Amino acid sequence: MKKELNRIALDINSFFRVYLRKQSETELIKPMTYSLLPGGKKIRSKILTDVGKIFGISYKTLIKIGAAVECIHAYSLIHDDLPCMDNDDIRRGKLSTHKKFGEATAVLAGNSLLTLAFEILSNKNVLLTEKIKIKLIKLISKSSGHTGIAGGQLLDLNFEKKKNISINKIIAMQIKKTGKLFVFCCLAPAIISNKKQKIINQLEKIGYEIGLLFQIVDDLIDYRGNSKKVGKKTKKDKKSGKANLISLLGYQNTIKYTHKLKVSIFSKLKIFGKKSDSIKKTVLFILERNR
Ligand code: IPE
Ligand code: IPE
Ligand code: MG
Ligand code: MG
Ligand code: MG
Repeated sequence: MKKELNRIALDINSFFRVYLRKQSETELIKPMTYSLLPGGKKIRSKILTDVGKIFGISYKTLIKIGAAVECIHAYSLIHDDLPCMDNDDIRRGKLSTHKKFGEATAVLAGNSLLTLAFEILSNKNVLLTEKIKIKLIKLISKSSGHTGIAGGQLLDLNFEKKKNISINKIIAMQIKKTGKLFVFCCLAPAIISNKKQKIINQLEKIGYEIGLLFQIVDDLIDYRGNSKKVGKKTKKDKKSGKANLISLLGYQNTIKYTHKLKVSIFSKLKIFGKKSDSIKKTVLFILERNR
């Protein structure tokens, strides 16, 4: 798994190096590059290539779509760390973007990375029809704005220090802030290969569950706490009074919940037979990861 993740990281990072070099030189390129490179596990792009494999999509195309996803993800992390949000100083083992460049620059670098994703997807070197590109841009927009990351992040902040937030509300918030981008990664390959609605619906459910699993495990990692290994401060969620499954159900029950989710994801993947071996391995990695 490490080898495969490293390969994807390498390929996406070299795409970014070439792509950013071709951009006009502005004051924001430096903080944007800082937040993108080397940076991150690239797990969303791994899911994208796993599903892409099921439908036989070219790896090169998947890397470009993955780059767009990683831009949106990097933007969400810059904003997530801001003092008005989670107020975190360390990200990916280095100073968070606002600590390094100041708040205003961080906000604007985040905005620029968000829009860069749309630019990448609409580029002519993404060898897809315009019709498909528009479908992808529409879906990634819905995953990022008020019905996705931004909307989920606001709920996450609104739920802080509130008692009695129900399990359904927590799950809905986590699906928005984290799950929807995973849904995009599961659906993009099916959209590219014009799959029937039935397959799209199945992959959408799988994406929700994988994204939710990813966020719950992130919360477990924060709870267990090993800042050095994780590359960001841990044991913070409890301090800031975040509403998550651990605060609601306790640590052990949350672990049980993640195992149930895994079983549910695996059973939904059955329709893809052996072709789903790769995504199953990634799901196990997500479940067992400690960073
Ligand atoms: C962290 O995401 C933020 C969440 C949505 C939980 P990742 O754990 O994928 O962050 P990087 O990209 O590997 O740093
Ligand atoms: C962030 O969730 C989700 C995003 C959409 C950025 P967290 O706030 O738990 O992410 P970390 O733990 O800071 O990476
Ligand atoms: Mg947060
Ligand atoms: Mg955070
Ligand atoms: Mg977290």
